Amino acid sequence: MATVKDKAVVITGGRRGLGAALVDEVLARGARTVYSTARTAYPDERPQVVTHPLDVRSAESVAALAELAGDAEIVFNNAGVLLPGELLTGRFEDIADTFDVNVYGPLRVARAFAPILAANGGGALVNMLSVLSWMTGSGAYGASKAAAWSVTNSLRDDLAGQHTQVVGVHAGFIDTDMVSGFAAPKTTPAEVARRIVDGLEAGAREVLVDDVSVAAKAALSGPVENLTFALPH
Ligand SMILES: NC(=O)c1ccc[n+]([C@@H]2O[C@H](COP(=O)([O-])OP(=O)(O)OC[C@H]3O[C@@H](n4cnc5c(N)ncnc54)[C@H](OP(=O)(O)O)[C@@H]3O)[C@@H](O)[C@H]2O)c1
Repeated sequence: MATVKDKAVVITGGRRGLGAALVDEVLARGARTVYSTARTAYPDERPQVVTHPLDVRSAESVAALAELAGDAEIVFNNAGVLLPGELLTGRFEDIADTFDVNVYGPLRVARAFAPILAANGGGALVNMLSVLSWMTGSGAYGASKAAAWSVTNSLRDDLAGQHTQVVGVHAGFIDTDMVSGFAAPKTTPAEVARRIVDGLEAGAREVLVDDVSVAAKAALSGPVENLTFALPH
């Protein structure tokens, strides 16, 4: 069970969207230091916040973050992309990039920070997944989140010996830039961040942020037709 108070926390993609809300949430709960990243350098005037450029597609960039954040005790793999990724007709480069950011990116971060978390007492690794880990309808994005779910589950076993709590987070629409083009009910990033950190601090291994995520997981035991998700336009 990882409490946030007085901890050093890494949040990838913390400049905006859900990541920015996670930065606010862990600061409100007394985090000692928050390492927050974006692909380009940016300022944050809050004394506990250390910003750093990070591209999760680059092992060197991830290694540089790990070098900086050697005191990390909790790592949020939040950064992600939603690119046009129709599996049969989309650009293959976009499909590959989706997997590079959403699957290999968090894995690179996990590999770089696993020894750091071990050295600092175990701590926690939180991976931001999606309801689309389980539902069809979003091409490469959903496929990448399904793969990231599997990676998360395996990492939970791999890191159990060093007492690292591994949390998979599934959510439907969150009101961020990523889904600004979709007119659908959305949860605020602040509310999602609160539910994620509540789960983390309660010792959860999985956080189902909203009803749609609860329903999607339950539907896995039913017919495959029930796993179809139609994105609104
Ligand atoms: N919004 C939703 O409805 C929703 C639902 C379920 C799950 N999620 C997941 O929640 C997470 C946060 O998404 P969001 O809604 O906050 O999206 P967002 O507003 O589009 O923000 C995406 C974040 O990821 C970072 N990022 C993108 N590519 C990166 C790369 N190559 N290297 C490092 N950082 C990169 C961005 O950093 P920059 O500042 O440099 O652009 C930004 O901080 C993602 O994993 C997403 O898949 C979102």
